[in-house]
Amino acid sequence: MQPQDLIRKKRDGQTLDSAEITAFVHGIVEGSVSQGQIGAFTMAVYLNGMNAAERIALTLAMRDSGNVLDWSAMPIDPSRIVDKHSSGGVGDEKITLLVVPLAAACGVYVPNLSGWGLDYCGGEIDMLDSVPGYNGAPPPETFMRAVADTGGAIIGPTPDLAPADAKIFKVRDVTATVESVALITGSIMSKKLASAPRGLVITVGSGSGAYMATADDARKLAQSMSEVAAGAGVASVMLLTDLDAVLGTAVGAAVEMVETVDFLTGRHGDARVTDLVLSVTAEMIVLAGLADNVGAARHFAEKRLADGTAAEHFARMISALGGPADFVARPTHHLKSAAIMRPVFADEAGFAARMNAKEIGLTLVALGGGRKRPEDPIDHAVGLTDFCQIGDQLSDDKPICMIHARDEAEWERAAARVRAAVDVAAAPPAPLPPIVIDRIERRP
Ligand code: URA
Repeated sequence: MQPQDLIRKKRDGQTLDSAEITAFVHGIVEGSVSQGQIGAFTMAVYLNGMNAAERIALTLAMRDSGNVLDWSAMPIDPSRIVDKHSSGGVGDEKITLLVVPLAAACGVYVPNLSGWGLDYCGGEIDMLDSVPGYNGAPPPETFMRAVADTGGAIIGPTPDLAPADAKIFKVRDVTATVESVALITGSIMSKKLASAPRGLVITVGSGSGAYMATADDARKLAQSMSEVAAGAGVASVMLLTDLDAVLGTAVGAAVEMVETVDFLTGRHGDARVTDLVLSVTAEMIVLAGLADNVGAARHFAEKRLADGTAAEHFARMISALGGPADFVARPTHHLKSAAIMRPVFADEAGFAARMNAKEIGLTLVALGGGRKRPEDPIDHAVGLTDFCQIGDQLSDDKPICMIHARDEAEWERAAARVRAAVDVAAAPPAPLPPIVIDRIERRP
């Protein structure tokens, strides 16, 4: 079948079979399918959707467009390989940096392929790239060795693993076809399945800081990914999360690395971050067969966090991929800091009642700490710290946050945006819902 015949079929609302989808994805990778044909295909899928069988076929074809990691030569129990992912939100990506070492400290092996930030959401690899020497794109053997030796490693996209995704994403980005459940499912799941996990825990957030704007959209994506995981023979748990506020207290690459170290070493433990980290880790421990239920698994993870084992694993992971051996002991010694660091105060005293977290993410982009286009460079040093939480009392002594900027003019512009993004009320607001709203579990 010619690419145009397959596009016509999808355009006209028909169902594609697995062989057709596989041939099309193969053509994308080898170059016989043009950019225009990729764009027409993604628009046809955007408009007409894909059923579960089509989504599974698309994801598996994208996964198989590159290597799938083979763990058989590594001295590890493959049934304990469990990965995690987040669909994205403001302050949400650092959860990966916390969960990977904590799950590793509990006996799970976590080969984590993460991404760079785009638009208002940050990226794990930007945070890790702020650490001098850290190699977020090592050869597959180095990555696998780091996982076997330290229990987990976090790297960025590589040309070896699911290369079809980068080619399709580039076209989706400029053809208004990013927001398709079928295409997001294929994109996320092909990368996750390329590291051959036995289980997957994925958080899908909704709210002002999330990639998925509504809880309904988040649930549709979670359902779709859980069907595809089962279709690929992988057990999964999807956690639906509330991301209607900045998650944690820092937003920005280097400042979130500091927040990560502070959390793992017990210096700081925001309640919602703690709850989410323990919830995700507990699900991973159960999927790895290391506990019978999430209650027992959570208790185990709490102990490993409190006794410093998770921090130790994080230190080893950083140095296994080229970072400084003493990073956890002295993070600020190794990270760049911004020229200007000053608090921004609310115009009037009161309670932080609501925040537009997306606007906070865009403030980071404007400071130079995020990107509008995938190829944009970013400044790792800028960001926001000590961010207030919903219900906090703000006053002349208690700022909304600290702004880390390159110069006065950028600080002033960021301060105006932050003030506008946080609503202050005279009375305390209703508390936020729990961070984990719902859970979808599916076994193959
Ligand atoms: N994250 C991805 O990796 N892909 C998408 O399409 C959307 C979010």
